[in-house]
Amino acid sequence: MSATTKRQRDRRHLWHIWSPLAADLTRTMLVKGTGAYVTDVDGHEFLDASSLNLTCGYAAPDITRAISAQASRLHGYDLSVATHDLAGAVAEGVAKLMPTALSRTLLTNSGTEACEAALLIAAMYAQNVGQPRTRVITFSAGYHGSTVISRSLSGLPHLAHPFNSPLPVSRVDLPLAPRHMRVPEALEPLLSAFRAALADDPDLPPLAVLVEPLLNVGGGVVLPATFLTELRRLCDDHGALLILDEVSTGYGRTGRMFGFEHDSVLPDIVVSSKGLAAGYAPIAAVSVRESIYATFDRDPFMGGLRFGQTTSGHAIACAAALATLELIEREKLVERAAHLGESLLASVRGLVGTGRVTDVRGLGLFVSLEFEDQNAATNAVTAAAEHGLLLRRQGAVVMAVPPLTLQDADATALLERLRRAVEQAA
Ligand SMILES: Cc1ncc(COP(=O)(O)O)c(C=O)c1O
Repeated sequence: MSATTKRQRDRRHLWHIWSPLAADLTRTMLVKGTGAYVTDVDGHEFLDASSLNLTCGYAAPDITRAISAQASRLHGYDLSVATHDLAGAVAEGVAKLMPTALSRTLLTNSGTEACEAALLIAAMYAQNVGQPRTRVITFSAGYHGSTVISRSLSGLPHLAHPFNSPLPVSRVDLPLAPRHMRVPEALEPLLSAFRAALADDPDLPPLAVLVEPLLNVGGGVVLPATFLTELRRLCDDHGALLILDEVSTGYGRTGRMFGFEHDSVLPDIVVSSKGLAAGYAPIAAVSVRESIYATFDRDPFMGGLRFGQTTSGHAIACAAALATLELIEREKLVERAAHLGESLLASVRGLVGTGRVTDVRGLGLFVSLEFEDQNAATNAVTAAAEHGLLLRRQGAVVMAVPPLTLQDADATALLERLRRAVEQAA
């Protein structure tokens, strides 16, 4: 079948997620990838720095081998009926990376489902211990998923929906512009905004605070050091749980295994997904304190958690996750992200003030460039693709998020192509 026919088929039948109907996404139709590079149907090769999922690069032999071996052995089983030998291994593997208290792992298929599960667990736990609460505190610029409950947590305009919010949510606005949020002076205004939100409504005491350690969709916003430590204290003062959304930051992306490790903090629940199976299969984890889990035998209907999907903990996804966790450890990818990220960030900072770039910020291999406006950011992403580099855009922010397996020569190529794109877009 010709490339033209494949494009026509896509345009005719596929409903692309998160896209205007007028957008033609078939310009880049990808067919294969190796390492940090991906090739389209016309034979063009791109260095891929556009995907937070892609932590281990394309066609990582250990992961693809594990997937195909598992597919021909046992592809999956409904974990509400029985179990398979990999689900417990993944749950243990995730628990080993968490603070000791978070030893219980629920597996789901996506970050969205995992965030909703975390809230359901928190609210049912509050009922289990006889203190029913439902109000959740989040960042207005946070992102926790696209279903009705998860999108209601966010105040980002593109997540607005026509329903009444099913949960009371108090959303905290960033007290300063995103580019000013990482400095120590941002800490006090930020904490006082959360303090006010926690005490907001005496009739509705807070159930939980749910935040990302680095705001992804909200613009790659880096928060001030010790924010999470102080937020934990505030949660304790108000009897609220602290839930951390590590969907985009977990498994090494920020140069630590989890984003919260930049601070000293013990969360109650941690949600993780993208890097768990490096994008090779859909999987997410909700890591929960054993003491929360232990209350669920009090549930009046089942004596357990009434939540799950038939593909939760799918065996092929578990095989991909186990191979990914082994690869992260063996190749020391967390240290690699820290070290490569530091030098990449230092070089990209040199672009501030050129080609309409107003700020560069990041942690590890999560590098964000803020532009004067959305048009400038869009132009930069288009120019980068012309130079063989795929980047991500959120509003006026462009993100360079390459695989943690990026080789030094690829990092040089990334920087060179990014520079040319920024120049051309100006
Ligand atoms: C921080 C965060 N939470 C939740 C989600 C939702 O995850 P998913 O797209 O897998 O449902 C995302 C996705 O980008 C995310 O970045």
